Amino acid sequence: MKKVLVTGGAGYIGSHVVKSLGKKGYELLTIDNLSTGHKEAVLYGDLVVADLSNKEKIKELIKDYKPDAVIHFAASIEVAESVQKPLKYYRNNTANTLNLLEVLNDLGIENFIFSSTAAVYGNPEQIPIKETADINPINPYGQSKAFVEKILKDLSQANKNFRYISLRYFNVAGADPEGQIGQSYKNPTHLITRALKTAKGEFEKLYIFGTDYPTPDGTCIRDYIHVNDLADAHVIALESLLSGRDSDVFNCGYGHGYSVKEVVETAKKVTGVDFPVEEAPRRPGDPAVLVADSSKLRKELNWKPKFDDLEFIIKTAWNWELNKRF
Ligand code: UFG
Repeated sequence: MKKVLVTGGAGYIGSHVVKSLGKKGYELLTIDNLSTGHKEAVLYGDLVVADLSNKEKIKELIKDYKPDAVIHFAASIEVAESVQKPLKYYRNNTANTLNLLEVLNDLGIENFIFSSTAAVYGNPEQIPIKETADINPINPYGQSKAFVEKILKDLSQANKNFRYISLRYFNVAGADPEGQIGQSYKNPTHLITRALKTAKGEFEKLYIFGTDYPTPDGTCIRDYIHVNDLADAHVIALESLLSGRDSDVFNCGYGHGYSVKEVVETAKKVTGVDFPVEEAPRRPGDPAVLVADSSKLRKELNWKPKFDDLEFIIKTAWNWELNKRF
């Protein structure tokens, strides 16, 4: 079976992809610095604790392992934090990816899947967003990922053997329906997780950041995609690269969105808790609407999502919140 190196495989999305690939029989090695990940989340393959800033160590590991492909999740992921600490994002997300790509290039490793983001589009001109829309990030997080996309494009043009797929994630949410893994951050900032932790009593109230956006109810609209459907997108992207597909970029979302207020109402319904909510000013760096046009992923890679249902997404996250293993 093929060998896949997964950076950030102990994190939220990475661990779900490790599980999906592990179930299919892939041989896996996760590299993770465990800054936000958990060793218990890695259900298949080996885990090495290392940081991508340590280029020598990474090179040694990859030279020994000789992967057929690399899936690169390891990154910092909070839009608001990136506005406060841009250098952290350019270091972790851009510079460290450059380290990794230099190592892969030196070692002749040619198949690469990159965790990109809808944040590369900034405030898009058209909704739903197609992959051909302008890349125009409005926060350092999106910019740090957009830089990598450009580097990947240039590298694949210079070295025809190097092929990559960038997956631009929209709002990833939910947890493993089997309940083994899920999101587990010390200080979560994502809407669904914050809402559920407020329902649980871990936070006093949930703030709605901005009610004056140009949307029907004034709150931001996002395309929430279940983490297992996103994991499937990685599996098919990997399989297509391994069977010789050219480099490409795909949006990962369902193609319709929910407002913050709609998410809050659904979270109240699923949990049965009428938790306190307060309207607050806008959070810096938030675009009003991000909804994917995912027809390319559906048509070209035959992606067939199974969990396009906000209530189900929130139910799996709630189940995880109540029965966490780590
Ligand atoms: N929000 C609140 N209250 C909260 C948390 C969030 O009102 O307590 C709002 C945000 O302001 C935003 C929406 O809920 O309008 C979604 O916010 P999240 O923090 O859950 O997610 P983001 O849209 O900011 O970002 C996420 C990922 C990014 C990715 C982006 C793409 O974290 O990596 O989705 O859509 F780029």
